[in-house]
Amino acid sequence: MLVFLAPGSTLEKSDSIGAIRVDKSVEFSYEELAKATNDFSIGHKIGQGGFGAVYYAELRGEKAAIKKMDMMATREFLAELKVLTHVHHLNLVRLIGYCVEGSLFLVYEYIENGNLSQHLHGTGWDPLPWSTRVQIALDSARGLEYIHEHTVPVYIHRDIKTANILIDKNFRAKVADFGLAKLTEVGGSSLPTRLVGTFGYMPPEYAQYGDVSPKIDVYAFGVVLYELISAKEAIVKAGSSMLESKGLVALFEDVLNQPDPREELCKLVDPRLGDGYPIDSVRKLAQLAKACTQENPLLRPSMRSAVVALMTLSSSTEDWDVGSFYENQALVSLMSGR
Ligand SMILES: Nc1ncnc2c1ncn2[C@@H]1O[C@H](COP(=O)(O)OP(=O)(O)OP(=O)(O)O)[C@@H](O)[C@H]1O
Ligand SMILES: [Mg+2]
Repeated sequence: MLVFLAPGSTLEKSDSIGAIRVDKSVEFSYEELAKATNDFSIGHKIGQGGFGAVYYAELRGEKAAIKKMDMMATREFLAELKVLTHVHHLNLVRLIGYCVEGSLFLVYEYIENGNLSQHLHGTGWDPLPWSTRVQIALDSARGLEYIHEHTVPVYIHRDIKTANILIDKNFRAKVADFGLAKLTEVGGSSLPTRLVGTFGYMPPEYAQYGDVSPKIDVYAFGVVLYELISAKEAIVKAGSSMLESKGLVALFEDVLNQPDPREELCKLVDPRLGDGYPIDSVRKLAQLAKACTQENPLLRPSMRSAVVALMTLSSSTEDWDVGSFYENQALVSLMSGR
């Protein structure tokens, strides 16, 4: 059977779950993990998330991030994990393996350069140039498109946010934590008791009714795009008292719905970019974000369409940060056919 594979992918659509071998090499012993993290010492801890703590380790010659989960794996989730170790894509953080002795431990490839939230909101990180932001958007879109359309079974991430987009040493982005939503699913009940997700990134149909479709990831991805433009958090404090909360979606929509939004849009751009951005490219990225965050999920584009839009944008933005402003203006116009 001839299958079309997304660039960088290695799991073929023709692979059936039944055909996937249970590979012992993906199972780690507790002893091996404890040794590599000095008994999960504080010195090895690199972060803390909603599901547990993350530790740095070198395992079998490979740098790894070990997630010590606060919950045990159900039988269903164990089967799920085996499948997840076979999902390989350049823009997805690879699950190397796991351990189920005592607690549940997930072993991921280590991504060197922090997460997107740190780069946008943290202190001590250089500002990301505009072309890098567009590339990060495209990389993340490709990772999501892959899990939505090319894996067996297909996945919905459910917790897309800037903290779950990791940045490697070449400033390429990889989506982390896909497949974890299944861990908290309660089987047998018709209404989910717990929502997986993060405030500011959840679309109305999911937050209100628990409706799940790939379009909930598209919405969250749209919020990430607004964050890339503005470096503001998904929920911002507004009003004179700074006690009102406003989502980035509403903040941008107020501006984008104006007849000529350019000037107001410039005010929303991350001040750390200075003049180092082409306003047309910003406007296009904001328009894509707006399409992704429409209230009606049916009107949101698929991740595949978002990838196509971002490829076009990226090819006209690539050389923006090289050379002088005027040379680049000419280049941008040339490449985008204007
Ligand atoms: N594979 C990895 N390589 C390098 N750092 C990682 C890796 N996985 C997670 N981290 C870092 O560990 C920290 C905690 O990650 P974790 O996924 O537990 O929490 P989170 O993403 O903030 O929230 P959530 O639990 O909703 O995913 C984050 O700062 C993240 O950047
Ligand atoms: Mg995470």
